[in-house]
Amino acid sequence: MKIKLKKYQKNNFKELDRCMVQLQDFIVRLDPLKRLRRSSKYSPQYSRNIIEKITKYNGIIFLAYDDKKNVGCIVGIIEKQSEKNLLECIPTRAGRIVELFVSDTHRNLGIGKQLMEKMENYMRKKKCDVMRVKVFEPNKAAHNFYKNLKYQDRVTDMIKILK
Ligand SMILES: CC(C)(COP(=O)(O)OP(=O)(O)OC[C@H]1O[C@@H](n2cnc3c(N)ncnc32)[C@H](O)[C@@H]1OP(=O)(O)O)[C@@H](O)C(=O)NCCC(=O)NCCS
Repeated sequence: MKIKLKKYQKNNFKELDRCMVQLQDFIVRLDPLKRLRRSSKYSPQYSRNIIEKITKYNGIIFLAYDDKKNVGCIVGIIEKQSEKNLLECIPTRAGRIVELFVSDTHRNLGIGKQLMEKMENYMRKKKCDVMRVKVFEPNKAAHNFYKNLKYQDRVTDMIKILK
């Protein structure tokens, strides 16, 4: 299967939005605490927010196509290091994966890896020295996928429900 990766253009909004809806539904199903949802306003507001974010943070979106069918996407931004952060960290320029999604019909075919490599190369060209990504803890498959690509655990966000 020959997969093509293309940079997002305005006329791809519907494809991006469909990926985001499917990604959110996937994550909601994984949530053992049932605290996540896809609200009625999620589509198209969430995708509009992504476009704003990539504009503000020098980011980029790549879409994956199997022939003419969109089968995934990746969204990345370049984080601005704050003065506050510089008090406790060395100077850095981090590329962040904000979203990554491959259609369930097309998983385990190397498309996620191709999207990651495309994004890492973009971030290298933009002089980033690290890549970062947040993973929802119950999403073991994604965690293993990133570990397979040499990503290391760095921060753990914990929750306790107060009764
Ligand atoms: C996570 C996801 C993006 C991976 O994309 P994919 O196209 O299915 O993965 P690939 O086929 O490119 O896999 C790349 C490599 O990771 C490995 N990998 C993939 N899933 C894995 C898993 N669950 N456990 C261990 N390794 C895994 C593959 O074996 C492959 O290894 P190789 O290069 O040594 O052969 C995709 O499954 C997905 O969209 N999942 C639902 C949404 C999601 O979880 N997004 C991430 C949110 S943070």
